[in-house]
Amino acid sequence: MRLALTKGRLEKNTVEMLEQLGYDCSQVKNKGRRLILPIGDGSIEVVLAKAADVVTYVENGVCDMGVVGKDTIMEKEGTFYEVTDLGFGKCRFALAAKKGTDFYKGYQTRTIASKYVNVAHSYFQEKNMDVNVVKIEGSVELAPILGLADAIVDIVETGSTLKENGLEIIEDVCQVSARLIVNIASMKLRKQEIEAFLDRIEEFVEKKKQEEEKNGI
Ligand code: PRP
Repeated sequence: MRLALTKGRLEKNTVEMLEQLGYDCSQVKNKGRRLILPIGDGSIEVVLAKAADVVTYVENGVCDMGVVGKDTIMEKEGTFYEVTDLGFGKCRFALAAKKGTDFYKGYQTRTIASKYVNVAHSYFQEKNMDVNVVKIEGSVELAPILGLADAIVDIVETGSTLKENGLEIIEDVCQVSARLIVNIASMKLRKQEIEAFLDRIEEFVEKKKQEEEKNGI
């Protein structure tokens, strides 16, 4: 089985989860520049990819499963099963602007900068508000500061990037966290293997949830 894993922020949490499930992840931890690595007894291969590519690989069946943020799933959509909220990688989508901006004042069409143009479009569509959306590839916070946009729709985790750049949240859009996704054909063809894996994941997620509730997180 192949598990596509989002490189970077979600990688560490996923490896921690896999280790707690009893898989030896030493090769992933010492990967160097390798992108495909076996875990445990080698029956699962981990494929390290960018978030949007995790969705592409799973959708096309070259990976059976994937770990990816709900933010990417919302932006990219696609045909696969979204089976589990893994409970880590928690953050939120928010609409933010320069501190003190009265975003809804006046009738002019606003310009919104975002890496997530589809998310931004659907958010304002739901509000029946016509906006221009400009695609920015990273450090989206720059756009309102430089005067390119009135506001941004972006991921907020700690809020530090907004704060340190003189921006503030106007409203929250939705919560986001890491999800386990499964290819539709794999779910049938490798039913037993995948279900056994999913059972262990569900058990891990439930245990983690209970621990968090106990610690008041
Ligand atoms: C994300 C996001 C914000 C920042 C939020 O960017 O787009 O810029 O993290 O995190 P915070 O609330 O904890 O400050 P990322 O670091 O992924 O880099 P990018 O802007 O280059 O995409």
